[in-house]
Order: sequence, then C-alpha cells, then structure tokens
Amino acid sequence: MTTYRALRIHLTEEGVTRALEDRAMSELPDHDVLIRVHWSSLNYKDALSANGHKGVSRYYPHTPGIDAAGVVERDRSGQFQPGTQVAVIGFDLGMNTQGGFADYVCVPADWVVTLPTGLNMADSMRLGTAGVTAAYCLEKLIETGVRADDGPILVTGATGGVGSLAVHLLSTLGYKVTAVTGKTDAHDWLGQLGATDILPREALSEPDPKALRPAQFAGAIDTVGEHTLVNILKSLRFGGSVAACGIVGGTALPADIFPFILRGVNLLGVASADAPLDARTRVLAKYAGLWKLPLLNAMCDTLTLDELGPRIDAMLSGNIQGRALIRIAQD
Ligand SMILES: NC(=O)c1ccc[n+]([C@@H]2O[C@H](COP(=O)([O-])OP(=O)(O)OC[C@H]3O[C@@H](n4cnc5c(N)ncnc54)[C@H](OP(=O)(O)O)[C@@H]3O)[C@@H](O)[C@H]2O)c1
Repeated sequence: MTTYRALRIHLTEEGVTRALEDRAMSELPDHDVLIRVHWSSLNYKDALSANGHKGVSRYYPHTPGIDAAGVVERDRSGQFQPGTQVAVIGFDLGMNTQGGFADYVCVPADWVVTLPTGLNMADSMRLGTAGVTAAYCLEKLIETGVRADDGPILVTGATGGVGSLAVHLLSTLGYKVTAVTGKTDAHDWLGQLGATDILPREALSEPDPKALRPAQFAGAIDTVGEHTLVNILKSLRFGGSVAACGIVGGTALPADIFPFILRGVNLLGVASADAPLDARTRVLAKYAGLWKLPLLNAMCDTLTLDELGPRIDAMLSGNIQGRALIRIAQD
C-alpha cells in the first residue's frame, strides 16, 4: 500500500474546502504505531477543525478525526502485536496530528488503548470522545458524593453527543435525569434514552440577576457553558456538583460567589483530551461491563466519509441528534 484515503481540509483566502484525497503513506507522521482505521466518529471538535477553526487545528491542509478505532499494522515500540484491535481517543489526534478521517493513522504508543473484551471497534467509536467525556463527568460527580437517590441530575445540550450519552448512561445506572434541550421535536427520543423530565434550553440560557434559584438538582453535566453553567450553579442543592465540559453556548463564566458560599456547591472541570491513558482504559472497561448502554447502537447514525459534509455543517449549527459513527474501512 503506497497511498491511503483521507478527508482533507484546505483553508484558503476564499474559505474552507473539504475533499477526499489519496495521500502518500510516506506523508503519515513518523510515530511508533501504524493503525489501519476501521471506524471513527464525529465530535464537536472535529466539526470545528473541519471548518478551519485555528483554535483546534493550527495548520492546514489537515485531516480531522479525534477518534479512531482499528487494527495495528506495525508497532516499533513492541507493545502491540500486529492485528490487535485498538482505539485512539483524544490526545492530539485530529487536532495537529493527522486524524481518524483517513484509512490510516500513525501515533505514539502511549496514545493507544487495547479494546477491552466486550467492546468492539464500532462500539468504541459510537462512544469515542463523547462517551469517555460523559463517563469522566459521571465519575467526577460520584467522587464528590453524588448518588442516584440524592435527586435529579441535569444534563444540558442533551441531544448532542456528550449530552445524549450522559442522559443514557445516568438513566441506565438508576439516576433520575432532567434533560435540557433546544429541540422541541426530540422530547420523545430523550424519554427513550431515559430522561424523566425535559426543560427547554431557554430555562437556563438567559442571564438571571438572582443570586440563587430554587435548589432542585443534586448534580449536573454541562456541555453548554456561560449563562447556562452559571444558572446551573444557582440551581444545585446543598453540596451539589456540576461537571463542566462544554462551551457550545459560550466560554465566559459570569458567576458570583453565592452558590459556593451559601450552598457549598462544586464546579468540576472535565478535560478528556489529555486525561491519562489509563483513564480511557478504565472507562472503556466500564462501558464494556457494568456501564454497558442498551441503546448505544440505536442512538448513532452510520455515515461514510463522503457523507460527512452536511453532518459537519448541521453540528456547527446545533442541528444534530445523537452520535455519528463513521465507517472508514471499505472491505
Ligand atoms: N472538556 C472536554 O474534554 C470535552 C470533550 C468532548 C466535548 N466537549 C465539548 O462539549 C460540547 C459538546 O460536544 P458534543 O461533541 O457533544 O457536541 P454536539 O454533538 O454538537 O452537541 C452539542 C449540543 O449542544 C446543544 N447546543 C448547540 N448550540 C447551542 C447553543 N448555542 N446553546 C445551547 N445549547 C446548544 C445542542 O443540543 P440541544 O439541541 O439538545 O440543546 C447540541 O446538539 C462542545 O463544546 C465540545 O467542545 C468537551
């Protein structure tokens, strides 16, 4: 094999273009582990990178794809036998290292996770960065003492990748979930994933001059940020926690101190890309076992690289529901 296919993003003065191209294998980065990619997935960061967002990918032309699952072809570090089924989720993949929207990736050995028994390559990508992030958020809530019988957990951006997996994970584990969504036509779907209550996005997204709101929620997983996050802090019960991971609603934090000093709430940051490798290994093993999601397959669409353009645009305008699994291998 001397060439491979990749979805390349070009950034010129006229704007962004995306094209499937044949590239020389010799152009792959010179790292230890060469992986034949079978599956990838679409995350918000990929949509930004595929739209020329230099905060994610500084250099173009570029191949996005922060997640990849496939089979090891060669490993100069000696840690992985050829034929081992592995996943790469996060680190610099798809940001400034050529990513998973391609037939091959070549990465350092310490980015690579061997898939646990019970989790196949496609399921590892149905989860991908969104799934490990939802899991890290829940682990952080549990670490601060949030329990299923403490009260409802709020999930914002609930139809998105992280949000929908968080709703389904929490409900599968017995938590009562209040989903926050901007999509009035997605309420039934969120109910199927396990949400028992639904709030409209506007219930949290506007600035609120009040120092506190009624203390309703034991915990929250927030993918939106800014005013939504601030209003969540004001709505947590005494000692409650919010795991904050997303910024689709903005990056500022216009908060005051009252929820912290009057209710002892906790604001927990979640950063999945550079979390240690063993954290990915741990949460993927959970998803293969006690955290197995009954509707994982049903909540994902399967697309090919040729079909990805409209989905990227829809994601950037907030118009997607669930996850997109990307079939890479054509055989
Ligand atoms: N910290 C980390 O490690 C980490 C890891 C993964 C993702 N993230 C971040 O988490 C966020 C979600 O990622 P994702 O991959 O799940 O994206 P996604 O699939 O595109 O989901 C985002 C969801 O947010 C809601 N939304 C969109 N625009 C909004 C707006 N202006 N205001 C409020 N809600 C809006 C929509 O859900 P509804 O229509 O249901 O409201 C949308 O489906 C992104 O900011 C991403 O960068 C962070």
